[in-house]
Amino acid sequence: MIRKCLFPAAGYGTRFLPATKAIPKEMLPIVNKPLIQYGVEEAIEAGMDTMAIITGRGKRAIEDHFDISYELESQIQGTSKEHLLHDIRHLVQNYTFTYTRQKQMLGLGHAVLVGRTLIGNEPFGVVLADDLCEGEEKGVLAQMVGLYHKYRCSIVAVMEVPKEQIGKYGVIRGKEIEEGLYMIEDMVEKPNPAEAPSNLAVIGRYILTPDIFDILKDIKPGAGGEIQLTDALKIQAQKGMVIAYRFKGKRFDCGSVEGYVEATNYFFDKLKRDTIKEKKDV
Ligand code: G1P
Repeated sequence: MIRKCLFPAAGYGTRFLPATKAIPKEMLPIVNKPLIQYGVEEAIEAGMDTMAIITGRGKRAIEDHFDISYELESQIQGTSKEHLLHDIRHLVQNYTFTYTRQKQMLGLGHAVLVGRTLIGNEPFGVVLADDLCEGEEKGVLAQMVGLYHKYRCSIVAVMEVPKEQIGKYGVIRGKEIEEGLYMIEDMVEKPNPAEAPSNLAVIGRYILTPDIFDILKDIKPGAGGEIQLTDALKIQAQKGMVIAYRFKGKRFDCGSVEGYVEATNYFFDKLKRDTIKEKKDV
């Protein structure tokens, strides 16, 4: 069973300044729900029940979001707006939220290592909340958990991206073992596009086995002077096996203004369709 999901959420969100000056980027709404809540719902759909959130200074709104707000509850109770709190109440009442702070921003690999105390010695999911995903039939993490039960190793989600954008990502080279499933042979973080090993870019969904922590503890800073999860996964692949999975679904890069607007339009249209359907069903 994979019970825990780690959410690195300590980053500054500088691309969204000034909006992110006093609120965490993970709390920016896509329509009426903060980004991180989409990620939490995806993890729950994949069977996870404990959310391990790596926060930092200025991120307390995340903790408040996944907690009871007595004042708001009593104000809204019995009014026509009460249903708006239904989903978040359900999360707060039924799932566990744990937190630790990353005191220095030393990279994604470092953020994952900081989460070790929350995860312990078991396999876990990782969601980068600004990669907003919508799976076909089931969520991307749920697809990956299914594969974990078969392969019992770390798994990264990948998608094809155009060559001019490949330098923004972790990129894999692998041997296809099933359709859309690759055994990783090499991985590079933010390669020079001319030297990228393929057009398969890692996106922010991972299943990691806990031996990743000891690898992260020992690696040196890589691309951008940061401790890179990609570098640790490359070592894990060399020692044993890591799989890349071309997931089925859509992904929006909500770390960029363009992707954020695209996601907003997409989820707004979806909400409108659902509302029309609900009215018809009544
Ligand atoms: C991180 C990872 C990178 C991955 C990307 C997906 O990069 O380091 O390997 O491809 O997320 O969004 P970041 O976007 O934090 O620079």
